[in-house]
Amino acid sequence: MSITKNEELIGMKKASEAVACTLKEMRNYAKPGMTTKQLDNFGAKMLSDFGAKSAPYLTYGFPGWTCISLNNEFCHGIPSDNRILKEGDLINIDVSAELDGFWSDNGGSFVLGEDVNQHQKLIDASKQILLKAIFNIKGGVRISDIGLLIETEAKKLGYKVIKNLAGHGIGRGLHEEPSNITNYRDRYNLTRFKKNSVVAIETFITTTSTYAETLKDGWTMVGNKGGFMAQHEHTIVVTDGKPIVLTEMNEIWK
Ligand code: CO
Ligand code: CO
Repeated sequence: MSITKNEELIGMKKASEAVACTLKEMRNYAKPGMTTKQLDNFGAKMLSDFGAKSAPYLTYGFPGWTCISLNNEFCHGIPSDNRILKEGDLINIDVSAELDGFWSDNGGSFVLGEDVNQHQKLIDASKQILLKAIFNIKGGVRISDIGLLIETEAKKLGYKVIKNLAGHGIGRGLHEEPSNITNYRDRYNLTRFKKNSVVAIETFITTTSTYAETLKDGWTMVGNKGGFMAQHEHTIVVTDGKPIVLTEMNEIWK
Protein backbone atom coordinates (compact mmCIF):
# COMPACT_ATOMS: atom_id res chain seq x y z
CA MET A 1 0.00 0.00 0.00
CA SER A 2 0.93 3.60 -0.27
CA ILE A 3 0.48 5.87 2.76
CA THR A 4 -1.68 8.78 1.65
CA LYS A 5 -2.99 10.02 4.99
CA ASN A 6 -2.01 10.03 8.64
CA GLU A 7 -4.76 7.56 9.67
CA GLU A 8 -3.12 4.97 7.42
CA LEU A 9 0.26 5.51 9.05
CA ILE A 10 -1.37 5.16 12.49
CA GLY A 11 -3.15 1.97 11.39
CA MET A 12 0.12 0.49 10.09
CA LYS A 13 1.91 1.46 13.31
CA LYS A 14 -0.69 -0.34 15.43
CA ALA A 15 -0.59 -3.53 13.34
CA SER A 16 3.20 -3.39 13.38
CA GLU A 17 3.35 -2.95 17.15
CA ALA A 18 1.21 -6.10 17.53
CA VAL A 19 3.43 -8.29 15.34
CA ALA A 20 6.70 -6.83 16.64
CA CYS A 21 5.84 -7.19 20.35
CA THR A 22 4.50 -10.70 19.73
CA LEU A 23 7.71 -11.75 17.95
CA LYS A 24 9.88 -10.28 20.70
CA GLU A 25 7.90 -11.91 23.51
CA MET A 26 7.73 -15.28 21.74
CA ARG A 27 11.53 -15.22 21.44
CA ASN A 28 11.81 -14.53 25.19
CA TYR A 29 9.21 -17.19 26.04
CA ALA A 30 10.87 -20.00 24.03
CA LYS A 31 12.58 -22.54 26.31
CA PRO A 32 14.05 -26.01 25.84
CA GLY A 33 11.42 -28.71 26.44
CA MET A 34 8.55 -26.57 25.12
CA THR A 35 6.65 -27.64 21.98
CA THR A 36 6.32 -25.33 18.98
CA LYS A 37 2.54 -25.53 19.53
CA GLN A 38 2.93 -24.12 23.07
CA LEU A 39 5.04 -21.30 21.69
CA ASP A 40 2.43 -20.60 19.00
CA ASN A 41 -0.38 -20.62 21.58
CA PHE A 42 1.50 -17.94 23.51
CA GLY A 43 1.85 -15.85 20.33
CA ALA A 44 -1.82 -16.40 19.46
CA LYS A 45 -2.88 -15.08 22.87
CA MET A 46 -0.70 -11.98 22.47
CA LEU A 47 -1.97 -11.23 18.98
CA SER A 48 -5.61 -11.65 20.05
CA ASP A 49 -5.03 -9.38 23.06
CA PHE A 50 -3.98 -6.72 20.53
CA GLY A 51 -7.15 -7.49 18.52
CA ALA A 52 -5.01 -8.88 15.69
CA LYS A 53 -5.55 -12.02 13.60
CA SER A 54 -3.01 -14.36 12.02
CA ALA A 55 -2.21 -13.19 8.49
CA PRO A 56 -1.12 -16.58 7.08
CA TYR A 57 -4.29 -18.18 8.48
CA LEU A 58 -6.55 -15.47 7.02
CA THR A 59 -4.74 -15.39 3.68
CA TYR A 60 -3.78 -19.00 3.03
CA GLY A 61 -5.54 -21.09 5.72
CA PHE A 62 -2.18 -21.79 7.41
CA PRO A 63 -2.67 -24.25 10.30
CA GLY A 64 -1.31 -22.05 13.11
CA TRP A 65 -1.07 -18.41 14.22
CA THR A 66 2.63 -17.97 13.50
CA CYS A 67 5.22 -19.84 11.46
CA ILE A 68 7.82 -21.63 13.61
CA SER A 69 10.64 -23.39 11.75
CA LEU A 70 13.40 -25.41 13.41
CA ASN A 71 16.95 -26.16 12.25
CA ASN A 72 16.90 -27.59 8.70
CA GLU A 73 13.40 -26.14 8.17
CA PHE A 74 13.72 -22.73 6.50
CA CYS A 75 10.24 -21.26 6.85
CA HIS A 76 6.46 -21.83 7.08
CA GLY A 77 6.93 -24.50 9.78
CA ILE A 78 3.63 -25.63 11.29
CA PRO A 79 3.32 -25.35 15.10
CA SER A 80 3.09 -28.90 16.42
CA ASP A 81 2.59 -30.82 19.68
CA ASN A 82 5.32 -33.20 18.52
CA ARG A 83 8.11 -30.69 17.96
CA ILE A 84 10.07 -30.07 21.13
CA LEU A 85 12.56 -27.20 21.39
CA LYS A 86 16.12 -28.11 22.34
CA GLU A 87 19.11 -26.15 23.58
CA GLY A 88 21.07 -24.83 20.60
CA ASP A 89 18.18 -25.10 18.10
CA LEU A 90 18.12 -22.61 15.23
CA ILE A 91 14.59 -21.24 15.47
CA ASN A 92 12.81 -18.99 13.02
CA ILE A 93 9.60 -17.29 14.08
CA ASP A 94 7.63 -15.30 11.54
CA VAL A 95 4.71 -13.26 12.83
CA SER A 96 2.34 -11.48 10.48
CA ALA A 97 -1.12 -10.23 11.31
CA GLU A 98 -4.09 -8.10 10.36
CA LEU A 99 -5.40 -5.42 12.72
CA ASP A 100 -8.33 -3.15 11.77
CA GLY A 101 -7.69 -3.75 8.06
CA PHE A 102 -3.93 -3.12 8.23
CA TRP A 103 -1.39 -5.88 7.75
CA SER A 104 2.18 -6.11 9.01
CA ASP A 105 4.87 -8.80 8.84
CA ASN A 106 8.12 -9.50 10.68
CA GLY A 107 10.36 -12.40 11.49
CA GLY A 108 13.67 -13.45 12.89
CA SER A 109 16.00 -16.37 13.50
CA PHE A 110 17.77 -16.99 16.80
CA VAL A 111 19.58 -19.68 18.75
CA LEU A 112 17.79 -21.17 21.75
CA GLY A 113 20.08 -20.89 24.78
CA GLU A 114 23.71 -21.93 24.36
CA ASP A 115 24.95 -21.86 20.77
CA VAL A 116 26.13 -25.49 20.86
CA ASN A 117 25.60 -25.95 17.09
CA GLN A 118 27.30 -22.69 16.12
CA HIS A 119 24.53 -20.93 14.26
CA GLN A 120 25.17 -17.46 15.66
CA LYS A 121 27.49 -16.37 12.85
CA LEU A 122 24.81 -17.08 10.23
CA ILE A 123 22.23 -15.20 12.31
CA ASP A 124 24.47 -12.19 12.78
CA ALA A 125 25.19 -12.10 9.03
CA SER A 126 21.46 -12.07 8.25
CA LYS A 127 20.72 -9.28 10.77
CA GLN A 128 23.58 -7.15 9.54
CA ILE A 129 22.59 -7.62 5.89
CA LEU A 130 18.97 -6.68 6.63
CA LEU A 131 20.16 -3.49 8.35
CA LYS A 132 22.34 -2.54 5.40
CA ALA A 133 19.63 -3.37 2.86
CA ILE A 134 16.92 -1.37 4.65
CA PHE A 135 19.06 1.75 5.10
CA ASN A 136 19.91 1.73 1.41
CA ILE A 137 16.23 1.84 0.43
CA LYS A 138 14.58 5.12 -0.48
CA GLY A 139 12.18 6.34 -3.16
CA GLY A 140 13.68 5.76 -6.64
CA VAL A 141 16.12 2.98 -5.70
CA ARG A 142 15.85 -0.07 -7.93
CA ILE A 143 14.59 -3.23 -6.21
CA SER A 144 17.22 -5.19 -8.14
CA ASP A 145 20.00 -3.02 -6.66
CA ILE A 146 18.92 -3.99 -3.14
CA GLY A 147 18.91 -7.61 -4.31
CA LEU A 148 22.47 -7.19 -5.55
CA LEU A 149 23.49 -5.63 -2.23
CA ILE A 150 22.03 -8.53 -0.23
CA GLU A 151 23.65 -11.20 -2.41
CA THR A 152 27.02 -9.39 -2.44
CA GLU A 153 27.06 -8.99 1.35
CA ALA A 154 26.07 -12.65 1.83
CA LYS A 155 28.88 -13.81 -0.48
CA LYS A 156 31.41 -11.63 1.34
CA LEU A 157 30.54 -13.44 4.55
CA GLY A 158 30.70 -16.88 2.90
CA TYR A 159 26.95 -17.44 2.51
CA LYS A 160 24.38 -17.94 -0.23
CA VAL A 161 20.85 -16.59 -0.72
CA ILE A 162 17.56 -18.27 -1.57
CA LYS A 163 16.33 -17.36 -5.06
CA ASN A 164 12.68 -18.35 -4.81
CA LEU A 165 11.68 -16.46 -1.68
CA ALA A 166 11.22 -12.69 -1.63
CA GLY A 167 10.18 -9.63 0.34
CA HIS A 168 6.96 -7.97 -0.75
CA GLY A 169 4.61 -5.05 -0.63
CA ILE A 170 2.16 -5.14 2.32
CA GLY A 171 -0.46 -3.01 4.07
CA ARG A 172 -4.01 -3.76 2.95
CA GLY A 173 -3.14 -7.42 2.50
CA LEU A 174 -0.26 -9.71 3.46
CA HIS A 175 1.31 -9.92 0.01
CA GLU A 176 0.98 -6.95 -2.32
CA GLU A 177 2.93 -5.48 -5.21
CA PRO A 178 5.88 -5.30 -5.55
CA SER A 179 5.90 -9.06 -4.91
CA ASN A 180 9.49 -9.74 -5.89
CA ILE A 181 11.95 -8.04 -3.56
CA THR A 182 14.53 -10.75 -4.12
CA ASN A 183 17.85 -11.38 -2.34
CA TYR A 184 19.73 -11.33 -5.68
CA ARG A 185 19.92 -9.02 -8.67
CA ASP A 186 17.01 -9.84 -10.97
CA ARG A 187 18.11 -7.95 -14.07
CA TYR A 188 14.62 -8.16 -15.59
CA ASN A 189 13.11 -6.34 -12.62
CA LEU A 190 13.22 -2.63 -13.44
CA THR A 191 10.82 -1.65 -10.64
CA ARG A 192 11.91 1.03 -8.19
CA PHE A 193 10.91 1.55 -4.56
CA LYS A 194 8.26 4.25 -4.30
CA LYS A 195 8.18 6.94 -1.63
CA ASN A 196 5.36 6.36 0.94
CA SER A 197 4.94 2.71 -0.03
CA VAL A 198 4.93 0.00 2.63
CA VAL A 199 7.12 -3.04 2.03
CA ALA A 200 8.31 -6.05 4.01
CA ILE A 201 12.04 -6.54 3.52
CA GLU A 202 13.39 -10.00 4.38
CA THR A 203 16.70 -11.81 4.16
CA PHE A 204 17.08 -15.49 3.24
CA ILE A 205 20.75 -16.20 4.03
CA THR A 206 21.93 -19.79 3.75
CA THR A 207 24.91 -22.04 4.31
CA THR A 208 24.37 -24.38 1.35
CA SER A 209 21.06 -24.12 -0.52
CA THR A 210 19.88 -21.64 -3.15
CA TYR A 211 16.28 -22.86 -3.51
CA ALA A 212 13.60 -23.63 -0.94
CA GLU A 213 11.34 -26.65 -1.49
CA THR A 214 8.02 -27.49 0.14
CA LEU A 215 7.72 -30.69 2.18
CA LYS A 216 4.80 -33.13 1.84
CA ASP A 217 2.90 -31.35 4.62
CA GLY A 218 2.25 -28.64 2.00
CA TRP A 219 3.77 -25.83 4.10
CA THR A 220 7.22 -26.40 5.59
CA MET A 221 10.10 -25.34 3.35
CA VAL A 222 13.61 -26.81 3.43
CA GLY A 223 16.69 -26.23 1.29
CA ASN A 224 17.27 -28.02 -2.02
CA LYS A 225 20.76 -28.85 -0.77
CA GLY A 226 20.03 -28.93 2.95
CA GLY A 227 21.95 -26.75 5.37
CA PHE A 228 20.57 -23.85 7.38
CA MET A 229 18.90 -20.52 6.69
CA ALA A 230 18.57 -17.35 8.74
CA GLN A 231 15.75 -14.92 7.99
CA HIS A 232 15.13 -11.47 9.42
CA GLU A 233 12.26 -9.26 8.35
CA HIS A 234 10.93 -5.78 8.99
CA THR A 235 7.94 -3.92 7.60
CA ILE A 236 9.00 -0.40 6.56
CA VAL A 237 7.67 2.80 4.98
CA VAL A 238 9.85 4.06 2.13
CA THR A 239 10.69 7.77 2.29
CA ASP A 240 13.09 10.21 0.58
CA GLY A 241 15.65 9.46 3.28
CA LYS A 242 15.86 6.81 5.99
CA PRO A 243 12.89 4.43 5.97
CA ILE A 244 10.46 4.27 8.89
CA VAL A 245 10.99 0.81 10.39
CA LEU A 246 7.46 0.03 11.59
CA THR A 247 8.38 -3.23 13.33
CA GLU A 248 11.53 -1.88 15.00
CA MET A 249 10.27 -2.84 18.48
CA ASN A 250 10.78 -6.53 17.71
CA GLU A 251 14.38 -5.73 18.71
CA ILE A 252 16.01 -8.11 16.24
CA TRP A 253 18.82 -5.54 15.89
CA LYS A 254 19.45 -5.25 19.65
CO1 CO B 1 7.06 -11.42 4.54
CO1 CO C 1 7.12 -12.81 7.37
